Parts: sequence; structure tokens; C-alpha cells
Amino acid sequence: MALKMFNALLPYFGSKRKLCSIIFKIISKYYHRNDWFNMTFVDAFMGSGAVSLFAKAQGFKVIANDIAERSYIAGKALIENNRIEIDHTDTENLFRNHPNNNHYIEENYVPDVFLEKHAKFLDNAFSNADDFLLKYLLIKYIFTLRPYSKFSSPNAFNKPMAEGRYDEIKSTYTNHINGNLKSSVTILREEKDKINSGIFTNNEKNEMHKEDVFDFLRKVNGDVLYLDPPYAGTLAYENEYAVLDDILGDKTPKSGFSEKEGMYMLDSLFDESEKFPLWVISFGNAGGNNKLEDLVKLVSKYRKCEVKEFAYKHCESVASEEHKQKSKEWVVIGHGCN
Ligand SMILES: C[S@@+](CC[C@H](N)C(=O)[O-])C[C@H]1O[C@@H](n2cnc3c(N)ncnc32)[C@H](O)[C@@H]1O
Repeated sequence: MALKMFNALLPYFGSKRKLCSIIFKIISKYYHRNDWFNMTFVDAFMGSGAVSLFAKAQGFKVIANDIAERSYIAGKALIENNRIEIDHTDTENLFRNHPNNNHYIEENYVPDVFLEKHAKFLDNAFSNADDFLLKYLLIKYIFTLRPYSKFSSPNAFNKPMAEGRYDEIKSTYTNHINGNLKSSVTILREEKDKINSGIFTNNEKNEMHKEDVFDFLRKVNGDVLYLDPPYAGTLAYENEYAVLDDILGDKTPKSGFSEKEGMYMLDSLFDESEKFPLWVISFGNAGGNNKLEDLVKLVSKYRKCEVKEFAYKHCESVASEEHKQKSKEWVVIGHGCN
């Protein structure tokens, strides 16, 4: 089921929006749904915020975290924020000429990533965007122009787009050709409405943190801990979103979890997570590199395990057909003591 509130999210690679109903059905086996209103859901690798937003809608208090500014802004806008919506005056204000516009995007990312007109708009608008909601709106604007994967693809998309050679662009980019042809006013109006559909209250003081996961876990407590780290041996978020992170002034080195041997960082992660009564872990086999039995062995050091396996397409538009066939997604529950 496509939920309207999910339109508020960034189209993020590795997003679990399609798995949310399954994840929460599994949680209901351990904690009755009626009790969720008095419980805290901790999302240690928030990403787009799909799972946090779903947990919020189910009544949990949510404490979310991500090391990246892109996700921190999303969490501030959608998870911490219970009531402030964007209105049309806010979007109009983004067009005001700002005296401190540094023209950074125009100077660094035209024509390889953005058309000149969009870069000009973004430079000025980011100078005007003085809160998380407006910054989030501008990130949503950027994702209307750019595919969520292959964020920078100058020869396949941006240069032919800038020169009007549309028939040379692959059909996978059709939505983004349409996005680039819309006016900024239209994009902002559409994205504003989508963001507002994800703003609601659960009558809790939800929190968004921006820390390395190990520091975060030491600081917070909760009833359900959701762990969705980057899958070992898959594309690193810091590489894929390097342009976006640079625009946001964020410099995070490649996450150790994305390294080929990154799965073994999970042992230290579980060790740090003992105080949380229920663990829900998302992981994938990275087209065959990671083994479910290795993950189960790691979790079983600490907890009893329940396992669900799905044929889930990780990073659909980037993966080859063969990789998609081999891709498996797991949800592993760690409960009780072992
Ligand atoms: C698989 S994604 C999470 C996807 C998310 N569940 C969703 O539905 O959109 C993993 C996230 O972990 C973040 N991350 C990577 N290394 C981290 C670290 N050491 N501490 C905290 N977050 C980290 C990345 O920035 C990325 O957003």
C-alpha cells in the first residue's frame, strides 16, 4: 500500500518504505499494538526516515539518528517536527535576492550536475533557507531534478539535457527530464504539498540526532532498536551523494559499514546494543557477498533469532539484472537472551 505520508520522504537508495508494514507486523508479535503509545522506537541509521515516520504514525515516540546531514535535515523536518508546515510565503521568500549568495553550485556543478538556471536558483535559495524545513524542501527540489541513484551522471543525462539532446537520454531518466522542464515555482509547490503530507503529531517529543552510531547508542534508551546499516560491499552513501553532501557542507568519510568486510562491524554494534530489549535488523546479501548464516551467528551470540528473507531489489535502477535476481533482503529479530 502506498501511503500518502511517504510522498514526504526523499527517494533514498536503501529506503525501507516497502518493508514497513512487514517490519511492524513482526514487532506486534513481541509488543501488543495497544502498548506502542507508551514505547520508544530507536532508528539508529535513519536514512530517508521511512521507518521512523511509520513508527511515529503508529504512536511510538521516535528517537532517530544518522551520521549524514542530508538525513539529519529530513529527521528535523519530519520526525522532530510535529506541527509546522510549509506555506506559500515560505516558498516565495526563497526567491528573494540574498546579499550573501556565494554561487557555489553554479561555479562547481554546472553543467555536470545541474542546469545553470537551477544552480542559480539553488544558490540563492539555500542562502534564504534559514530553517530545516526549507532546507529539506530544497533537497526535495534537487531530487526532482536528479535521480536518487546516479546522482551525478554528466554524459548520460545532464550535458545532453542542457543541450536539448533529449533523444540521446535513456528512458530511465524520463521522470527527471520532466522534472527539469518544470518551473521552479511548480516544483516547490508540488514538493511543499508532499512534505506537508508527512507532518503530523504523535504527541511525543521525538528526537533527531546526527552522530556516529556507536556514540548515539551509548546515549539513548528505548524499547525497539531498529538497525539498518549500509550493507557491506554495496555502494557507499558518501560516494553516491557526495555532491549533495558537499552542497550541504557535510564531509563524512566513507562509512566502515559499506566496506566489503563491513559486516563484521555488526558484532561491535550488537555488543553496544545490549540494553535494548528488542532488535530489528535489516540487512542484505549484496548480490551474494554476505551470508545470512553469518548474520544469524553474530546475532545469536547475544539473542534468540527470528529471520525473514525477501527477494527485495536493493538499489533497483543501479543494479544489473543478474544482481537483482540474486539480491536478498533479510529482517532479523533479536529477542530474549541467549
Ligand atoms: C541503509 S541506509 C538506511 C535506510 C533507512 N532505513 C530508510 O528506510 O531510508 C543507511 C544509513 O546509514 C547512515 N550511516 C552510515 N554510516 C553510519 C554511522 N557510522 N553512523 C550513523 N549512520 C550511518 C547512512 O548515512 C545511511 O543514511
